[in-house]
Amino acid sequence: MKRRTLLKGGLAALALAGANYTGLSLLGKSGFIDTARADGFTAPLPIPPLLEDLGSRSDSARFIMNVQQGSMDFFPGKPTATLGYNGNFLGPTIRVRNGQRFRINVNNNLTQTTTLHWHGLHVPAQWDGGPRQPIPAGTTWKPVFTIRQEAATLWYHPHAMGLTGEQVYQGLAGFFLIEDEVSDNLNIPKAYGVDDIPLVIQDRRFFRNSQFAYAQNMHDILNGVIGNYLLVNGAMQPSLSVHGGLVRLRLLNGSNSSIYRIGFKDHRTFKVIASDGGFLEQPVAMNSIVLSAGERAEVVVDFADVEMGNQVSLMVEQMKGSFFEAMRFTVDRAAETAVQLPKILRPLDKIPESEADTIRRFTMETMSMGRGRMGMGMMGRRLTINGKKMDFNRIDEQVKLGSTEIWEITNQGAMMMSMPHSMHLHDVQFQVFSRNGQPPPLHERGRKDTVLIMPGETVRIISRFRDYTGVYMYHCHLLEHEDDGMMGQFEVIS
Ligand code: C2O
Ligand code: CU
Ligand code: CU
Repeated sequence: MKRRTLLKGGLAALALAGANYTGLSLLGKSGFIDTARADGFTAPLPIPPLLEDLGSRSDSARFIMNVQQGSMDFFPGKPTATLGYNGNFLGPTIRVRNGQRFRINVNNNLTQTTTLHWHGLHVPAQWDGGPRQPIPAGTTWKPVFTIRQEAATLWYHPHAMGLTGEQVYQGLAGFFLIEDEVSDNLNIPKAYGVDDIPLVIQDRRFFRNSQFAYAQNMHDILNGVIGNYLLVNGAMQPSLSVHGGLVRLRLLNGSNSSIYRIGFKDHRTFKVIASDGGFLEQPVAMNSIVLSAGERAEVVVDFADVEMGNQVSLMVEQMKGSFFEAMRFTVDRAAETAVQLPKILRPLDKIPESEADTIRRFTMETMSMGRGRMGMGMMGRRLTINGKKMDFNRIDEQVKLGSTEIWEITNQGAMMMSMPHSMHLHDVQFQVFSRNGQPPPLHERGRKDTVLIMPGETVRIISRFRDYTGVYMYHCHLLEHEDDGMMGQFEVIS
């Protein structure tokens, strides 16, 4: 078995090469189950159900969510203890419309605190669901707010201080889709679960007793918990029947700390139509895309050339780790109508650099064993932003409401340790305007809330801070880094 390392050299444009793709690429780490599955690619891909709107009005939506314990048979007859929203693992898809009033009751039926954060949503600080809005065990959280945002593929997950990584690992995550007139009217696939498919990609490791191996040690914190089994919508090696036409995949890297390169086994080209925060101006043709933990992309793939009954494999490569055949698409019927992707999706309201009132600089740093600039006395690891670890009682940055800011984020990749980081901001969708002084690749020229920053890279983002005041988080979205304190707080003040 051959494991290809395609991600060496960061974002270098490397296509998925044709290696031996058979089955899972296994790390065979002692202590973890590492048997390939005999029944691969027969189980149907689970599609998360749409969460029922309990209201009866079109201008508002009302939901109920139960955070609960569950159990999954990832290995037949050997149940794994899990967490889920309204179910055993993962959660239903919440679908709302721009302008709608949104209400939800989140019942925490766990025995520990959780929160429910709307990742990518422009939302009042008090309803952000970050670490400042804990939902103690046995209580209900009742956010109410208005959706003020364009169509996008967002997601939700817990965000309790120090518990995020473990709770997500056990299964807490789901899609949060916003639709609007543009997404209604665009000639793109939009039948949920039919030709508009949410795909949350995650990896896991297991102990021999089939329980999740989220045992953290210093290595796990620094590198993140990287799994040797791949799950798509909570299933290992599933397959999905599709028509021989355009299929839209809403890709979410829902892993704790993996960076994925995603593409097809036959290297077919697909069109990227949306980044984290919604549609790109124009579709961008690619044959693989890198998503760091927390990032999303909507892609449209054309299966018109696939012979009836044939399968196309989706491949996922971890930057540090394995190469997986993630799932298969079985083309079992002709497309009812031939759809041509529009040339323009949505004009981008590009934020000009000249609009910025402030430039802030952030350094994401991994230091180890006293070799960092903190001096010889520092023992152990340090994962910091601007030399600091998260402190609830400290506001790191104050941002004026109504301002536009450039944030320049550097991954200090020198020294002994160099780690990729994935910077995420709450409250806003930003625009990436440079990577190491160069314009970002085309698929990163839309709205984003999470951005991969490779060791030694400097990324500049620009954002408008509008509508809401209050305290929000910014952090590395490698969840083990976040839980270890690679997070800060910014307050929007009027
Ligand atoms: Cu996806 Cu602060 O989180
Ligand atoms: Cu977030
Ligand atoms: Cu990080």
